[in-house]
Formats: sequence, structure tokens, C-alpha cells
Amino acid sequence: MSLAATLQELKDSTAARIANASTLDELEAIRVETVGRKGVLAGAGKDMAKVAKEDRAAMGQLLNAVKSAIESALEERTNAFQAAALEARLDAEWMDLTAPAPGVQPGALHPVTQVQRYLEEVFTSMGFTVLSGPEVETEFHNFDALNIPPSHPARDMQDTFWLEGGHLLRTHTSPVQVRGMKRLGAPLRMIAPGRVFRNEEVDPSHEHTFYQLEGMMVDREVSIAHMLYFMKTLLKEIFQREVAVRLRPGYFPFVEPGFELDIQCLLCGGAGCPVCKYTGWVELLPCGLVHPNVLRAGGIDPGQWNGFAFGLGLTRLAMMRYGIDDIRLLQAGDLRFLNQFR
Ligand code: PHE
Repeated sequence: MSLAATLQELKDSTAARIANASTLDELEAIRVETVGRKGVLAGAGKDMAKVAKEDRAAMGQLLNAVKSAIESALEERTNAFQAAALEARLDAEWMDLTAPAPGVQPGALHPVTQVQRYLEEVFTSMGFTVLSGPEVETEFHNFDALNIPPSHPARDMQDTFWLEGGHLLRTHTSPVQVRGMKRLGAPLRMIAPGRVFRNEEVDPSHEHTFYQLEGMMVDREVSIAHMLYFMKTLLKEIFQREVAVRLRPGYFPFVEPGFELDIQCLLCGGAGCPVCKYTGWVELLPCGLVHPNVLRAGGIDPGQWNGFAFGLGLTRLAMMRYGIDDIRLLQAGDLRFLNQFR
């Protein structure tokens, strides 16, 4: 076959292959094979030497014509493929700008935090300072400074998570009494809300982790009447109504005399339910006059000053306030529960 016929034949067959190609990869393979640097046409160029001198110019033109015909066919087909790909992508990746935006759910305060914030407001309005202390406490602040020496039976009343080196997870917020006295001196009005820990069996009314709110007032000639006034004001603010209370003697080494202030169970109205252990009363507010030894540990002269202290069960209070009958719900992180308090 003459070179001219070969070129003509190459042009036609390549045109057919390009028309039948269905991917960009196929087109690329055809390009390399025909018009590529080491392709068929490059080979044909070398055969030019064998062409008769007078035919060479025409043959050169034919070669170029075949080459550009193949190249433009490739380009046309490539463009068509790319346009189709773009079309498919535009079809798949679209956005309905008129569709309603997905709902945004901002975070909300935990019910215990809500009660805590509210009480902080109540107490600051009565001249109390809000303090906090460390959750990892020293044995000294959690016990000794509160008139609970080693081997005192009261230590067993609070099942303690002991850490290494004389440290522990504080079992109550009372150590902040001592820190507060040392820091601010007398006279003093302070509260200390915070998380406390006890190595307890968990059930609907006991958790190993819960919240208390400690309160302390130190001044001259503070009496039980003062203490009762603040406690009643506090309860009225919390429950927004008169709540039946009762005062029982209570023993805590850091107060003398000490009391247990109970409120009538708001969940069952005193009829008896699991939260009040079917007694109709809920222990809410242990309190008493600050023991002289505790004032001394805080660097305050018990001959000049005295005071009252209380330890409010913040978690239990939140349960009363919102009618929650299982303490475990508060730490479970279940949004079906938490969403009720937004
Ligand atoms: N710290 C005591 C407790 O957690 C409560 C308390 C505080 C009692 C202040 C009296 C005065 O059990």
C-alpha cells in the first residue's frame, strides 16, 4: 500500500475509533498511539525519505492534514466528554436555596446549674460572696480543720474516695468554709456551691457525685435566730411559696449546736414516695453554729466572733424543684431528659 493510502486509511479508522470511544482514557490512548511523539504518524514521517523527491511536498501536506484532522477530532470528543461530566455534576450537586434551614439547637444550662445560679443571685443580694474550692482536697481541709481528727467516727459517715498523698475527693463543700475564712477573715458572708463525691452505692436517691451549696456567716453575736431567718428566706426564694419545715438536732463535728432542717416533700406533699423514703420529709438543710475549733482553723478568734453554717443539698433541691424522682437522670447525659429544662 502506498504511503498516501496508508495515511488515508489511518485517518478514517482513527475517526471511527474516536467516534466510538466512551471514556477520556480511551481518547488519550488513541492520541498516544496515532499523533503521539512515538505514534504512527511520527513513524510515517520517517518514511518520507523513501518518497520520490517530487511527491514529498504533497505527502508532507497530507501528513499534516491527517494529523490535524485526528487532533481536532480528539479535541472535539474530549470537549464533549468534559461538558457531559460537568452536566452530570451540576445535576447531582445542587442546592435548594429556598429550602428551610436545618434547626439550630443551642446548648442549655443543666437543671442543677440553673438552681445554683438562681441561689447565687439570692445570696449575693443578701451580701454573700460566692467562693469555690478544689474538688481534690487535702485531708486537712476536708476533715481535720472541720474538727474531725483522724479516727473520729464522723469520718466513717462519709465514704471517702481516697487519693494518694493525703489527698481525697472532697466529700462535702465544708472545706471551703476554712478556705474562705483564711482568705477573707471576719466578718464574713460566703456561699460555696460545688461538686462533691462519696463512695456510695448508687440508687434513685444516692449518687457518688452530687452538688452541695455551702453557706457561712461569721459576725459578732450571731444566733440561731439569725440562722433561721436566712434559712427561711432561702427556702421561700427557692420554692416561691411557704414550705413546711422542721428542725431536728443533728450531729456534725463542725457545728455546735447542729441541726437537720427538713422540708416537707414537695413531690408527694408529705404523703410518702420513694424520694422521701415514704416519710413525707426530705432532709435538705443541715446547719448549725460554727464550732470554735473551726473558727480557729480559719484563723478567726472565737472569743470575738461566731457564726452559722449550712450545707444545702443542691442536687436534691433541683430534684424537688423540678419533680425529678431519680437522681441518676441528672448525670446520665440523656438528651430526652435534659431537653425538658431548656
Ligand atoms: N458538710 C455537711 C455534709 O455534707 C453538711 C453541713 C454543712 C452540716 C454545714 C452543717 C453545717 O454532710
